[in-house]
Amino acid sequence: MRSKVTIQTLREKMAKGQPITMITGYDYPMALLEERAGIDIILVGDSLGMTVLGYDSTLPVTMDVMIEHCKAVRRGAPTAYVIGDMPYMSYQVSVEEAVRNAGRFMKEAGVDAVKLEGGRNVVDVVEALTKATIPVMGHLGLTPQSMAMLGGFKAQGRDIQAAEAIINDAKAIEEAGAVSILLEAVPPEVAKVITDRAGIPIISIGAGPHCHGQLLIVHDMLGFFDAFTPKFVKKYANLNSIILDALQQYRQDVETHTFPSDEHCYKMQPDALARFKEKYGD
Ligand code: KIV
Repeated sequence: MRSKVTIQTLREKMAKGQPITMITGYDYPMALLEERAGIDIILVGDSLGMTVLGYDSTLPVTMDVMIEHCKAVRRGAPTAYVIGDMPYMSYQVSVEEAVRNAGRFMKEAGVDAVKLEGGRNVVDVVEALTKATIPVMGHLGLTPQSMAMLGGFKAQGRDIQAAEAIINDAKAIEEAGAVSILLEAVPPEVAKVITDRAGIPIISIGAGPHCHGQLLIVHDMLGFFDAFTPKFVKKYANLNSIILDALQQYRQDVETHTFPSDEHCYKMQPDALARFKEKYGD
């Protein structure tokens, strides 16, 4: 088994120019595979509200739901750097509530860090969590919890003013103590400036090749979620069609009495079988 991925491991990769690998994970079986594949960071994202629970946004996801999923991922991936995503309204109401909720991720689920969305508007929260010894990953650019303010899932930082706002947000979050920053759906030029200026790992999801690492949503890259596919997704498999084929074949086998066959049935002990047949017939 590899040794535990820590913030130190990530900093060393960054210093050596080795790309950091990150992917979302929501449950035990996927975490087992992600761990086996040697992925550095698993994000238990509140995107599970859409990919796993079938909501049309991440807003309905609760702390209790996030904690259960983080626990499952931690069990499946003991050495990965696991990050718990703070759900909508778990850190916006007050700094005290943010510390209490982030503390639950660390204490109950054993994650390595928490992630929260926002820039200069969440500096007080990042500072308080850092002071409480809770490592924070910031999240800038397209921030799905602010969908109502952003007007949908749209790329961010495409004009000078918006680009500079994200650059300034990144600086503020780092100064507040964030241990890393996720940039979502921003042009690569903007991500490069942020990455070049940062002293902490900057991870891209749709922010181009210049960042220290890359993240994809596992259900997107496996072709397991097709409500919509963002431009930045590369599909590495088409699980939907593999699973659908299997389900249809199973249904057909049951309907045609092809399953179960002899190989799927338990055998009685031979002497018991003879006596059983004598009593009950064939
Ligand atoms: O919830 C999540 O998976 C995320 C990604 C969209 C970055 O925050």
